[in-house]
Amino acid sequence: MMSKPARAAQGPKRPKKKLAALAPVASGEPVGAGLNVRPVRRGDLDAVIEIDAMVTGIEKRDYWNSLYRRYADAVATGQHFLVAVSDDEHVVGFVIGEVRDWEFGSPPCGWVFAIDVRPDARLGGTATRLLQAICAGFRRAGVSKVRTMLSRDNTLILSFFRSQGMMIGPFIPLEMDLES
Ligand SMILES: CC(C)(COP(=O)(O)OP(=O)(O)OC[C@H]1O[C@@H](n2cnc3c(N)ncnc32)[C@H](O)[C@@H]1OP(=O)(O)O)[C@@H](O)C(=O)NCCC(=O)NCCS
Repeated sequence: MMSKPARAAQGPKRPKKKLAALAPVASGEPVGAGLNVRPVRRGDLDAVIEIDAMVTGIEKRDYWNSLYRRYADAVATGQHFLVAVSDDEHVVGFVIGEVRDWEFGSPPCGWVFAIDVRPDARLGGTATRLLQAICAGFRRAGVSKVRTMLSRDNTLILSFFRSQGMMIGPFIPLEMDLES
């Protein structure tokens, strides 16, 4: 068995970026300045559908309507569907997630299912603000862990989650084709 290298040989431990205390961006503006993050409203849905279609290339109106019905007023049950709105009231991004109890045998934790920002509004701290807001909701619901799942080819979303301090977790996904 390989012995563990001594801490000193690995170099100093990099401090983790904590969600609650992200540093201001270089310009001196706070991360995501000029944005309001709030629960989604019916009138935001067209913009959400448009952003999702830009990112995935597929418009899924029925899916989003049904998700809205399930999540919009469900904060009390730990479900969150939040939007980031610019000063001029345009929806520029959204995040969706919920607290799941004992899924995969793990104690209750927050799951982030989707986070998307309009391509023309990226790199301004919008997703950071959205993730901070949903994590604040998870904390209020009494959980202290957040998880997500992503496609291994999606290096953009991986870079984002890593920048927020997320690391590989203790679970591995498995799948198989079901024969008809
Ligand atoms: C990933 C995404 C949500 C990031 O949104 P954003 O508002 O641009 O993110 P932020 O500005 O908050 O970026 C925070 C950090 O993420 C990392 N990051 C974001 N975009 C990046 C990029 N293009 N390349 C490398 N790192 C990046 C950086 O570390 C960045 O911090 P920095 O600006 O100080 O370097 C956005 O690019 C997006 O919607 N992509 C498509 C998402 C997707 O594929 N969704 C489907 C699965 S849910």
